[in-house]
Amino acid sequence: MNLQPVGILGTGKYVPERVLTNQELEQMVETNDEWIVSRTGIRERRLAAPDQATSDLAYEASVSALRAAGISAEELDLIIVATITPDMFFPSTACILQDKLGASRAAAFDLSAACSGFIYGLATASSMIASGMYRHVLVVGAECLSRITDFTDRNTCILFGDGAGAVVLGPVAEGRGFRAFELGADGAGGDLLKVCGGGSRVPATEQSIGERQHFIQMAGSEVFKFAVRIMGNAAEEALRKAGMGKEDIDLLVPHQANIRIIQSALNRLQLPEDKCMINLDKYGNVSAGSIPIALAEAVESGRIKEGDTIVMVGFGGGLTWGASVLTW
Ligand code: UT7
Repeated sequence: MNLQPVGILGTGKYVPERVLTNQELEQMVETNDEWIVSRTGIRERRLAAPDQATSDLAYEASVSALRAAGISAEELDLIIVATITPDMFFPSTACILQDKLGASRAAAFDLSAACSGFIYGLATASSMIASGMYRHVLVVGAECLSRITDFTDRNTCILFGDGAGAVVLGPVAEGRGFRAFELGADGAGGDLLKVCGGGSRVPATEQSIGERQHFIQMAGSEVFKFAVRIMGNAAEEALRKAGMGKEDIDLLVPHQANIRIIQSALNRLQLPEDKCMINLDKYGNVSAGSIPIALAEAVESGRIKEGDTIVMVGFGGGLTWGASVLTW
């Protein structure tokens, strides 16, 4: 069967206005700017306004991506929102977004793969377009992580931020578009990074709230070790499937969790820092939003040109990981 080549027709991003600096965090928990910058590379992150939820951030990023793609909302066949901070349990954030956009023809669903969610979304959407099932799919990574962050826990509250990135996928010319995906999961590592309260196992009760079970819990150094191993592995495996090597990479767009994790991936892939998109100093870790925000900024700043080989790679709770190879 001849598959239709699928690529990115337009990108968009949105970050809320409110900046939360390391200096402000110094007033909230026992930490300091020097520790945060040297251990993570993060200087500030964005916080959604009290009246903003994930779908509001997703909407702004989506409008930009649709404009860049020259596609109207009515032309969308499907909307996938990758998020771990949906507006509510249901309806899905994708359905709320569909309504806000007026994308009346589009099917819509949320996808839960934590920080790997955007790559999982790209793989899902691109297979559906390649098979001929759909033509235009909006894939969004959007988070309001500040709503599930424990601002009394210095191990986690310094890391996370809010924001959204979006892409419109559609048919592209032969020789362009996605070349390969590598997705993976290791559910045995699920306890390393989780929010256990509020689901069917631990429903919201006064006790669960008192025990702060509705916030992110993380075994930081374990996740760190996993991330260092998996970023290089996933990128190399996606390149191998694409019939390419690390020397073919023009730009790496990694999940923005920690500068030391990104640097170890660069070492492993023997890439100089100028072949990598890094913006975690401004936004921290935005989970599913990190990669599409970084991609949108790479496009905005002219760092991607036609024919470039772009590798996106991420890891996160689940545990999950994902990588893609794309000819722009
Ligand atoms: O999207 C995926 C999400 N998660 C991640 O990517 C997280 C991956 N992990 C990490 O990025 C790092 O493990 C952290 C940044 C979370 C922590 O860095 P680390 O170098 O692994 O530090 P550590 O957890 O080993 O802690 C070292 C010390 C500890 O003190 P003691 O026990 O040695 O006295 C911590 O209590 O640093 C302390 N510490 C802090 N000190 C100042 C932990 N957090 C802070 C803080 N400020 N915010």
